[in-house]
Amino acid sequence: MLEARNLSLDYVLGKKRKAELIPAFRALNMALPSGSISSVLGPSGCGKTSILNVIAGLVRPSSGSLLLDGAELSGLRPKTAVIFQHYGLLPWRNVEANAELGLLIQRLPAAERKKKIHPILEELGLMDFRRFYPDSLSGGMKQRVAIARALAIEPDLLLMDEPFSSLDALGREAAQDFLLELRKKRPMTILLVSHSIEEAVYLSERVYVMAGRNPGFIVDSFDIEPNRAEKRFGNDSYSADYQNMRDSKELLVYAKAIRASINRFMSDEKEAVPGQGGLA
Ligand SMILES: Nc1ncnc2c1ncn2[C@@H]1O[C@H](COP(=O)(O)OP(=O)(O)OP(=O)(O)O)[C@@H](O)[C@H]1O
Ligand SMILES: [Mg+2]
Repeated sequence: MLEARNLSLDYVLGKKRKAELIPAFRALNMALPSGSISSVLGPSGCGKTSILNVIAGLVRPSSGSLLLDGAELSGLRPKTAVIFQHYGLLPWRNVEANAELGLLIQRLPAAERKKKIHPILEELGLMDFRRFYPDSLSGGMKQRVAIARALAIEPDLLLMDEPFSSLDALGREAAQDFLLELRKKRPMTILLVSHSIEEAVYLSERVYVMAGRNPGFIVDSFDIEPNRAEKRFGNDSYSADYQNMRDSKELLVYAKAIRASINRFMSDEKEAVPGQGGLA
């Protein structure tokens, strides 16, 4: 279980007395069951990327705590992988060299890096493209390189920042299904940031809805019962047809409830602060 308890972040701009605090998010409470997929949904600027950066240990929170299976989390840890909002591929490194970056940082020798990377490139259909540079790849392929890089470190916690937002509708659905298949093979806890209610509802067993800006905060959370990890990934017959869930009435009910929650909050907010609100 990954828990955020009363977690807040203010960015500090400038130094000492001239320092200015930019509030990013406030008083966040989250609980992500081990092996679950959870999502954070919210408008642009509400602090979603900032939350991932704090959980990844890239940014220190201003207050509150993060616990992984009861132990305090602080700073970077080797089993946390992050897929950044725009994939974060280095244009001067080819597919293979991008994919092995995490292992390079762990100072693994070249032969061992290859031993780990090649089966993953194979699994993701990238082996034939391993000498290609990011510029010559499609959006979906770039995304898979970013996934390969994340999987190479054998993460138990995978943080994904709008991983599918630059794919077209069909590519996006395929990538979502692919993520479910990856999770079925590997017992990772996954947290993803999304702008799409349908995507969050299809993929997650828990959805956190955020609102506000400077700071943003959680306004609601939803447990999507049919997406519980034990149900979806623990049993072969169910897993085989989870793709039929995409258009199911069962999930539609959750999407409606989430949409209603967002709309309710936005209309309250509009009354309080004219001109604010709106999902990007
Ligand atoms: N490095 C930074 N320094 C100072 N302030 C920052 C920094 N990064 C983000 N912010 C502030 O924190 C707020 C939240 O930013 P963040 O990138 O987490 O939002 P987001 O929800 O991921 O937005 P988007 O959906 O557009 O990606 C922003 O409104 C911005 O004011
Ligand atoms: Mg962001």
